[in-house]
Amino acid sequence: MSTTTKTETRYENARETLATRGQTHVLRWWQELDDDRRTQLLDDIESIPWSLLDPVIPTHVLAAPKTTTLSNLAPAEVLPSDPGEKLAKQYADARELGERLLKGGKVAAFTVAGGQGTRLGHDGPKGTLVVTPVGGRTLFHLFAETVQAASTRYRCEIPWYIMTSEANHHDTHTYFCEHEWFDLSPDSVKLFSQGMLPAFDFNGKLLLTEKHRLARAPDGHGGSLKAMIASGATADMRSRGIEIISYFQVDNPLVKPFDPLFVGLHAQSRSEMSTKVARKASDLEKVGNLCVVDGKTCVVEYSDFPEALAHEKNDDGTRRFDAGNLAIHLLNVDFVERIVGSDFRLPFRRAEKKVSHLDEAGQPVETESPNAVKLETFVFDALPLAEETLALEVDRAEEFSPVKNATGADSLESSHRDQIRRTARWLQAAGIDVPKSPDGEPATIVAISPTFAMDIAEIKGKRDQIPDLKPGDRVWIE
Ligand code: UTP
Repeated sequence: MSTTTKTETRYENARETLATRGQTHVLRWWQELDDDRRTQLLDDIESIPWSLLDPVIPTHVLAAPKTTTLSNLAPAEVLPSDPGEKLAKQYADARELGERLLKGGKVAAFTVAGGQGTRLGHDGPKGTLVVTPVGGRTLFHLFAETVQAASTRYRCEIPWYIMTSEANHHDTHTYFCEHEWFDLSPDSVKLFSQGMLPAFDFNGKLLLTEKHRLARAPDGHGGSLKAMIASGATADMRSRGIEIISYFQVDNPLVKPFDPLFVGLHAQSRSEMSTKVARKASDLEKVGNLCVVDGKTCVVEYSDFPEALAHEKNDDGTRRFDAGNLAIHLLNVDFVERIVGSDFRLPFRRAEKKVSHLDEAGQPVETESPNAVKLETFVFDALPLAEETLALEVDRAEEFSPVKNATGADSLESSHRDQIRRTARWLQAAGIDVPKSPDGEPATIVAISPTFAMDIAEIKGKRDQIPDLKPGDRVWIE
């Protein structure tokens, strides 16, 4: 078949698919397009998973989905951060098991980095943001050093998988090449792209960003499960003997992806998907609540969580629902392979966003307020699919300070503060004096490379290499 005939056949098929859904307007400028642009537009149209979208357009695009009344909502069982006497032996055994699994090369790192980072507004993939308060480390550089440090500690090459999306894959790849993969073996860092979904206006119509391009967006971090299979990442993990995937988001510089206790507890309990949680800062804090619904572990978003339940207290005055999701998970490779089959789908979530697009005359339209619906799936919606799950409480100040917003909460400023505070706590616990300002905050801007130390014990072993810290100093310890 000639290329022209092939394009014509594809066009006719696309037209038919679109016509049954009232979407042929996206072919409006077909006659003006050159061959390459026609091919691009057909690629965009053919990538739409209509079998998944058709059922949810009436419920999630033309309307906001109804919040289902959650029956049988109960708090999830959570292992405490402090084992006390009762759990001391179990935790010690778990830590030992976790270390064995890490040394045995059974754990891979997995960063989801396909998001658009619109709230932060950084120019480039979010992982290229300089995140440390001193030392100039970007998120990707910091994680690369963590992978390198863990590989040295556990004497095995730990592979690192990074999910990108169409919008940032090229820039992410170029960034790693330019930085020579931060001294990791390029074969041990695997980048792959997630799926994309079209954006719709509030009338359910597809939008065009150019005459030959649909407005599309990454399909949410839940898309990572399918993308791991489709890209061959899980097959690659199998070939390396990986059993557990340590999942974390690109925006959290405090994350500890190689936590022997968490890995060991996960394995000990035969959990298929585990999650770290932190106590909520307030009853109505905007975090997902780890719960049990009809016997299944799940995360209920704050927006769906019944307010009366959020205020409920136990007899001792503590919050009844107090487990905030930190988006730090362990997933078994077996589990991902088991659930991602032909009929695999996670529930869609609706997000109203501002999407620049072309009007009927082909003129670009910028909007001040949300004008479109993007559909996404969330990785934590895989929790109810697991036969066994485990939740471990951690101290938020030790493990979680994401950079999501340009200012205020969860910004670079708040994350710098939290990184400095954690470093100061670790140094003090290792017996090193950190000067304090009158308000009690560390008076030295200090941070530690993971290649120097990943915890207090490692700092203790290197105390003589740490300079005296003076107020006003900026010190990067590496
Ligand atoms: P966020 O929910 O913070 O979204 O993602 P975002 O796209 O990064 O930022 P905003 O909402 O546009 O400001 C949490 C994590 O999930 C990843 C992000 O890269 C981040 O690590 N993510 C999100 C994906 O990998 N793919 C997606 O489709 C969405």
